[in-house]
Amino acid sequence: MQFQCPKLTPLQSRFLASSVALFLLGLVYWSLSSPHFAYAGELEVDGNGQSRGGKDHNWHRIEQQRLEDDGVDDGNSPESRRMQRRADTVAAQPIGGNNVPNTLNIEAGTTATWVYAEELLNGEYANKTAGLPSEIGQRSVAEPLYHAELRKRQDSGATRQIYVSINTCLQPTWNATGVQTAAPPQLTLYVANQTNKEEIGPGTGAGQIARVLDEGFANVTVNATGDWYLAVHAPNLPDGFTGIWNYELAVSIDDYYHAADTTNPFLHLVDTDIDSALLVTGNLTQADPSSSVFEAWMGLSPPPFIMFAANQNHTTTRGIRNSYCGWSQAKQIAASQDDVAGAGSGVQMGMITRGLGNKPKEQFFVTYLNGSSTYYGVLALAGNSTASGSGVVGGGGKVWQALNFTTKAQQNCALMFNLTFCDEVAYAVPYNPTYNITGLRSLFDNYTSTYYQNFNYSLQQIPCNTTDDAKYSIAKGCDDCAAAYKQWLCATSIPRCEDFTNPAFWLQPRAMGQPSFTNNSQMDMTYLTQQYLPMQDAPTLDGSPKDQTWLTALASNSSRNTLIDTEIQPGPYKEVLPCEDLCYSLISSCPSALGLGCPMKGRGLESSYGHRPKFNDTIMCSYLGAVYGINHAKQLVAPVFKALVFASLAALALGFA
Ligand SMILES: *[C@@H]1O[C@H](CO)[C@@H](O)[C@H](O)[C@H]1NC(C)=O
Ligand SMILES: *[C@@H]1O[C@H](CO)[C@@H](O)[C@H](O)[C@H]1NC(C)=O
Ligand SMILES: *[C@@H]1O[C@H](CO)[C@@H](O)[C@H](O)[C@H]1NC(C)=O
Ligand SMILES: *[C@@H]1O[C@H](CO)[C@@H](O)[C@H](O)[C@H]1NC(C)=O
Ligand SMILES: *[C@@H]1O[C@H](CO)[C@@H](O)[C@H](O)[C@H]1NC(C)=O
Ligand SMILES: *[C@@H]1O[C@H](CO)[C@@H](O)[C@H](O)[C@H]1NC(C)=O
Ligand SMILES: *[C@@H]1O[C@H](CO)[C@@H](O)[C@H](O)[C@H]1NC(C)=O
Ligand SMILES: *[C@@H]1O[C@H](CO)[C@@H](O)[C@H](O)[C@H]1NC(C)=O
Ligand SMILES: *[C@@H]1O[C@H](CO)[C@@H](O)[C@H](O)[C@H]1NC(C)=O
Ligand SMILES: *[C@@H]1O[C@H](CO)[C@@H](O)[C@H](O)[C@H]1NC(C)=O
Ligand SMILES: *[C@@H]1O[C@H](CO)[C@@H](O)[C@H](O)[C@H]1NC(C)=O
Ligand SMILES: *[C@@H]1O[C@H](CO)[C@@H](O)[C@H](O)[C@H]1NC(C)=O
Repeated sequence: MQFQCPKLTPLQSRFLASSVALFLLGLVYWSLSSPHFAYAGELEVDGNGQSRGGKDHNWHRIEQQRLEDDGVDDGNSPESRRMQRRADTVAAQPIGGNNVPNTLNIEAGTTATWVYAEELLNGEYANKTAGLPSEIGQRSVAEPLYHAELRKRQDSGATRQIYVSINTCLQPTWNATGVQTAAPPQLTLYVANQTNKEEIGPGTGAGQIARVLDEGFANVTVNATGDWYLAVHAPNLPDGFTGIWNYELAVSIDDYYHAADTTNPFLHLVDTDIDSALLVTGNLTQADPSSSVFEAWMGLSPPPFIMFAANQNHTTTRGIRNSYCGWSQAKQIAASQDDVAGAGSGVQMGMITRGLGNKPKEQFFVTYLNGSSTYYGVLALAGNSTASGSGVVGGGGKVWQALNFTTKAQQNCALMFNLTFCDEVAYAVPYNPTYNITGLRSLFDNYTSTYYQNFNYSLQQIPCNTTDDAKYSIAKGCDDCAAAYKQWLCATSIPRCEDFTNPAFWLQPRAMGQPSFTNNSQMDMTYLTQQYLPMQDAPTLDGSPKDQTWLTALASNSSRNTLIDTEIQPGPYKEVLPCEDLCYSLISSCPSALGLGCPMKGRGLESSYGHRPKFNDTIMCSYLGAVYGINHAKQLVAPVFKALVFASLAALALGFA
C-alpha cells in the first residue's frame, strides 16, 4: 500500500486524506464490505501541496467538523451521525507495521483515523542493535534502546506497551500579504486509552488521550491490547494560511520512531564570523582517553550527528521545530552524513577532542551564511545514526532544542581553527582578506611556535626534573610550566576578535587609527580624538594619562602584538581580552627564576586581561576551549593566589602593556 512506503516525499505522496472517507458518505454500506475502496478516491496534489479538485468533495466534511469543533449540533439525526461515525471507522487505515512511518496529507478541519492491528501488537520485538558507543554524555556503555531478550513472547490477548509518535512534515503556508507573525496551527494526535475504541478523535468522548503537537512533534505511550485506534486531527486554518499538512505517524512495540529533546540543545556555539559559524556538541562521553568507549566515539565514521540550520526570518521552520521530518523539509542548511566534507551542503563535520576536558565531541563548521543574521541551529540524528527509515527502531530521527547564533557584521574577524601548534585555538581572529585563512593560520603558527621554542630554551636552564629538593616547586614541574605557558601564549598572541560595532562593555577596542580595508579610510577624526581613559586607576603624575584619546592611547590604537598591526592590518576591531587567570596560572606554575609577572591594576591589567563572568554563560574573557552556553566561572587558579600576585609581583608586563 502506498502510504506505507517511507520513501515517498510528502509532495510526491498522493493525497490520501481522511476526508476521502467522506467522499464515501453516500456509499457507507459499500465501503463496509470493501475498505480498500477508499484508495480509489485518491486526489492529486499539485506542487504547492494543494489538493486539486478536492474542495467540493470535502466541503461537507469540513463544515461538519467545524460544527463539531464548535460544539454545535448540525441538526442531523443521531442516527445519521452514528452512520457517519461508522463511515469514519470503516475508513480507519491500517498502520503499516511496527517502526514504519505512515505518511499522509491532511486537510484543515478533517480527521484521519488509523488502526494498529492486534497482529502487529503481538509481533516480534526488534533484535537488539549495537547502538552508539555509550549513552550520550555518559561514561558507561550504552544500554540498548530496547530489550528484546527481556521480553517474553506473549500470547495474543496480552497487554503490551506501544510507543506512538508523530512528526509534521509539511504545514500550510502563509499566503497573505504582510509578514507572517505566527506559525500555522498544530495537528492533534489522539490515541485510544481502551481497546476497540473505534470512534476516536475530537468530540468522541472519554477513553482517549489527546495531544496537540508541540512544534510538529508528539509522543504517547499506552498499554494496548487487541486492535488499537488512533486519529490525527487537523484544525481549521486561520486567515492568511493556505494548504495542507503532511505528517508521519508511527507505532512501535520497541521504542519511539521519532524523538525530540525539547529542553537541551546539546550543541554549543564556539564562534562565528561574517559568513560562517563553528559549533560543537556537548561531551559525547566522559570516558578516559585510554578507554574503548572513547576510541569508539572517535572512530565513528561518518560522525553520528547531523544538523539543520535556518535564518530566523525563514518562517517555514515555525511550527515544526521539534520535528525531524519537518526540519528535513523546511531547513535552509543541512549537514549530511554523505557529505562530511561539506562540498554540497556547506557544513563540514568531524569528531574532535578540542575543548575543556578533551572529551569526544562532534564539530560542525557551517559556511555560506549571511552576515549580521540570527540563525537557528538544530542538532539531529538521522534515524538511529547508522540506519534510518522504515523498519529501524528510532528510524524517524531525533532533533534537539534549537540553538540561536548570530553571525558577525564585519569582515575583519575570521574564524580560525585547526592550527598546528595552538591546536586548542578555535575562534574569530583579526583578519584581512589579503591573507587567506590558510596563510593566516601559518602566520600565527609560526609566530607562536617561535616564541614557545625560545621559552623552552630558557626553561631548560632551570632544574626541573631533579629530586624534589632541588625542584623550584614541590607542587609544579616544568611540564606544568610549559603547559601554562602554551595556554597563555596562544590565548594572548592570537586575540579573539569581535565586531568593532559590538557594544559589549567588556570588549577592548583595538587598532582604531588604522584604515578599514573595506573602504580604505580611517574612522572619523572627531571621534578618534575624543578622550579615552584605558585605565581608571592609572597613576597621574603629570596628568598625562588624562590627555589620552582613542587615537593616542596604545590600548585602543594598536593591537596586542605588532604582528597584527604590521602584517595583518585588520583595521579597527574589538578584542575579547584573555582571562586574567591565564596569567596567574602561568606565574604560579613556572619557576620565579624566569622572572614572569602579570600587570597590575592601573598598569596595563585592565586593557590586557579580562574577567570570567561569575554567573552567566557569556564569553567575557578569552581562554582556549571556550564555548557559549557553559558556565565560565571556573578559573585556572584560586583567587587567594591572585591576591598574592598583586601583593608581591611587579607590573612586569608580559603581554600587552
Ligand atoms: C532477530 O534475529 C533472528 C535471528 O537472527 C531472526 O530470525 C529474526 O527474524 C530477527 N527478528 C527481527 C524482528 O528482525
Ligand atoms: C540502527 O539500526 C540498524 C538496523 O536496525 C542496526 O543495524 C544498527 O546497529 C543501528 N545503529 C545504532 C547506532 O543503533
Ligand atoms: C490564499 O489562499 C487561499 C486558499 O487557497 C485563497 O483563497 C486566497 O485567495 C489566497 N490569498 C492570497 C493573498 O493569495
Ligand atoms: C487511561 O486509562 C487509565 C486506566 O483506565 C486511566 O487511569 C487514565 O487516566 C486514562 N488516561 C486518559 C488520558 O484518559
Ligand atoms: C504499562 O504496563 C507496565 C506494566 O504493568 C507499567 O509498568 C507501565 O507503566 C504501563 N505504561 C503505561 C503507559 O501505562
Ligand atoms: C516523549 O518524548 C520525549 C522526548 O523524546 C521524552 O522525554 C518523553 O518521556 C516522551 N513521553 C512519553 C510519554 O514517553
Ligand atoms: C566537557 O567535560 C568537561 C569535563 O570533563 C567540562 O569541563 C566541560 O565543560 C564539558 N564541556 C561541555 C561542552 O559540556
Ligand atoms: C532574511 O535575512 C537575510 C539576511 O540575513 C535577507 O537576505 C533575507 O532577504 C531575509 N529574508 C526574509 C524572508 O526576510
Ligand atoms: C532564540 O531566538 C528566539 C527568537 O529570537 C527567541 O524567542 C528565543 O528565546 C531564543 N532562544 C534562546 C535560547 O535564547
Ligand atoms: C581540520 O583538520 C582535520 C585534520 O587535520 C581535517 O580533516 C579537517 O578537514 C580540517 N578542517 C577544516 C575545516 O579545515
Ligand atoms: C593562501 O595563501 C598561501 C600563502 O599565503 C598560498 O600559498 C595559498 O595558495 C593560498 N591559498 C588559496 C586558496 O588562495
Ligand atoms: C617565522 O617567524 C620568524 C620569527 O618570528 C620569522 O623570522 C620567519 O620569517 C617566519 N617564517 C615564516 C615562514 O613566516
